[in-house]
Amino acid sequence: MKISVIGCGYLGAVHASAMASLGHDVIGIDVEAAKVEQLSRGEAPFFEPGLPELLSAGLASGNLRFSTDIADAADAEVHFVAVGTPQRKGENAADLRYVDAAIEALLPWLAPGSLVVGKSTVPVGTAARLAERVRTRDADLAWNPEFLREGYAVKDTLQPDRLVYGVDGDAAQGILDSVYAQALAAGTPLVVTDFATAELVKVAANAFLATKISFINAMAEIAETVGADVTTLADAIGHDARIGRRFLNAGIGFGGGCLPKDIRAFTARAEELGHGESVAFLKEVDAINLRRRDRAVDLVIEVLGDRLRTGRVAILGLAFKPESDDVRDSPALDVAVRLHGLGVDVVATDPEAIENARRLHPQLTYVEDAGEAIAGAEVVVLVTEWREYRDLDPAAIGAQVATKNIIDGRNVLDVDAWRSAGWSYVGMGRGRRD
Ligand code: UGA
Repeated sequence: MKISVIGCGYLGAVHASAMASLGHDVIGIDVEAAKVEQLSRGEAPFFEPGLPELLSAGLASGNLRFSTDIADAADAEVHFVAVGTPQRKGENAADLRYVDAAIEALLPWLAPGSLVVGKSTVPVGTAARLAERVRTRDADLAWNPEFLREGYAVKDTLQPDRLVYGVDGDAAQGILDSVYAQALAAGTPLVVTDFATAELVKVAANAFLATKISFINAMAEIAETVGADVTTLADAIGHDARIGRRFLNAGIGFGGGCLPKDIRAFTARAEELGHGESVAFLKEVDAINLRRRDRAVDLVIEVLGDRLRTGRVAILGLAFKPESDDVRDSPALDVAVRLHGLGVDVVATDPEAIENARRLHPQLTYVEDAGEAIAGAEVVVLVTEWREYRDLDPAAIGAQVATKNIIDGRNVLDVDAWRSAGWSYVGMGRGRRD
């Protein structure tokens, strides 16, 4: 099928490349000329495992092109809208200006009978409003939320764990079935529903995931007070299949371009609808999450004691999670910036996210690798659980630091191994720190 993808960020660039790899004829459109040039050269504008290979293969096959000119989308039968819906400045609500702009830009080029498919995360009610605009061109609209995780975006797009279509009529479903023929043939569960349900499915999923993380982080707060171990607690409750162990990792909490802003936008939309109380708990979820960053900062201050302004602190990780260079609302970067703001001598590193972090916070000292960051440190703080940080050998690096203090902001290190190598280990909710 001839497909256009409007917006080539984390979501759109992967979606366009994945659709091309399935044999569709794809044009990716983005307003940023530099990004389009990069993508056209086969370079991914951000770190995402598997994307460069998919891009190169798509470009080489002739199935994949990129352009800044929306007119190039004119002959597509299906137009995916994959632009961002960030948090509005100074408010909780989502900023829909990019979605609205994409639809308005597309309208003059929509062929009768073509389908516009929203993939962006939007407040419930948006699709119905946009459908009216699209119908003025005798085209149709569907809402097809995306559930991909950064770091696994290629796999999640090619082998999704479910497909959700929000449609208003059979024609749209037929077209989407053709787009996703391979995934459907492989038995991917399909949920066909109305616009409002499809929009809600997406925000409900992210709200649930955020709640799960804040639940375990709330248990970490209690565990810290009573000297219990939240990791063991998570293992134990996770054995109950109704609860499950996934997304129960306590630490410095969730960040990124989705979970934080999605729970806030959901709260704002529910309040607009007169049902603020239904999701009032999400404010607590947000508050617990932000408290874990405070806790990490406090722990560093405690450990440094009177060396607050003299002791070097090595921050391992800047991305909001491993396998990503994304620093949007990153808890790791936040902890680094706040410590620096307190006058602490912070040296930060990350395998992929330094450039993005530097753009936002040039005031921090960045070094290329963990070895350099750790040298002479009074405290080592692991805040993004990249494999190479999890695999650090406590005995070997013990010789490089000034004092063997490790704060495990992601609860991923082997406590016994670090302690027996002479380190003072502090996790997040892993026993009392006296
Ligand atoms: C999230 C959802 O997981 C995807 O399903 C969704 O499609 C996506 O948002 C989106 O809306 O586009 P993503 O933001 O890539 O995906 O990252 P997650 O893997 O969900 O991690 C989010 C944050 O939670 C990270 O900062 C991670 O470190 C943290 N986290 C995750 C924990 O603190 N504990 C856990 O147990 C799991």
